[in-house]
Amino acid sequence: MLTQTTDLTLTDTKNNSAQPKRILTGITTTGIPHLGNYVGAIRPAIISAKNSAANEDKTFFFLADYHGIIKCYDPKQIHESTKAIAATWLACGLDPEQVVFYRQSDVPEIPELAWILNCSCPKGLMNRAHAYKAAVDANLAKAAVDADQGVTMGLFGYPILMAADILMFNATHVPVGRDQIQHIEMARDIAGTFNHKYKDLFTLPTAVIDEDMPLLTGLDGRKMSKSYGNTIPLFGDGNPQTDPETQLRKAVMQIVTNSQAPDEPKNPDDSVLFEIYKAFATVEEIADFSAQFEQGIAWGDAKQALFEKINAQIAPFRERYFELMANPNDLEQILQMGADKARRHSRKQLDKTRRAIGIRPLAKLK
Ligand code: TRP
Repeated sequence: MLTQTTDLTLTDTKNNSAQPKRILTGITTTGIPHLGNYVGAIRPAIISAKNSAANEDKTFFFLADYHGIIKCYDPKQIHESTKAIAATWLACGLDPEQVVFYRQSDVPEIPELAWILNCSCPKGLMNRAHAYKAAVDANLAKAAVDADQGVTMGLFGYPILMAADILMFNATHVPVGRDQIQHIEMARDIAGTFNHKYKDLFTLPTAVIDEDMPLLTGLDGRKMSKSYGNTIPLFGDGNPQTDPETQLRKAVMQIVTNSQAPDEPKNPDDSVLFEIYKAFATVEEIADFSAQFEQGIAWGDAKQALFEKINAQIAPFRERYFELMANPNDLEQILQMGADKARRHSRKQLDKTRRAIGIRPLAKLK
């Protein structure tokens, strides 16, 4: 079920419901896509883009590389991640003709808008951001350390750059994970402050959360996350020595299980294998797998069944993924086409914004 965090009917300025629906979301470029990203973000976004009528100005997906550099100081990782994420989205079926698919850093109007928004956004609003507060709390827990130790201005102002991403394109709907809801609320606040101070220019965005979005568990039983090192990479780990299918099988075989013997009835709801299976199977297949658990399927057999289920869905994307990874020219061209489309909007929006704050040419030169 999709939930909007804000009741649109309560919005008075720039009412969203009067605005054409425009969906926008960003992907931070610091990791290599894994099964959790695929099930939670990539697959639903591609399905939703396919279902919306062919109107390329309705849906905006972008690689947030200027967000990537806030947490990652490894240039190679930023670069490789940008490439792998772009190749993954395209290989999994994103049609770059149907949506606007671009790289944040190719749209220089975005950081320019971010600066302008910096100048009207109250510092107090940023003091309340969860990510910043968590960093401060961690410092305060270690007495004798500056509360702001390790906090960069990039981390502190992160929500303002995100607001610029969203407000630049007057996005109405922003699909995000739960951890990002506060940032969308802040983008609304930032838009409202600007609209009030200067001119009613920015649409107030709404976060869209998928309540049913499965949060996958990782190999070790904790939430699947790059930071825990417990992920199942979608297309292998990039090691050319072993083929990606073998790598996927190996990863699935590593998922932790309990010590129940073969033939012992097992509780599907206690099992990570079953949870991941559910994200890839039909209702009938899930019921059948559940029955097999109760009949005492051996863990090895359950893992093999899970591997086959995931592989059936991912295998058709592999060829395109590796083709794109080997031809960065094609990727670059697609991203440049996206940047052209994005900039048709962002140039106009930035021009309006600059005029609203009093920055415009002194005269029309003849
Ligand atoms: N901060 C988001 C995340 O980490 C990524 C992101 C950047 C984003 N800019 C955005 C998401 C704009 C939605 C809209 O997930």
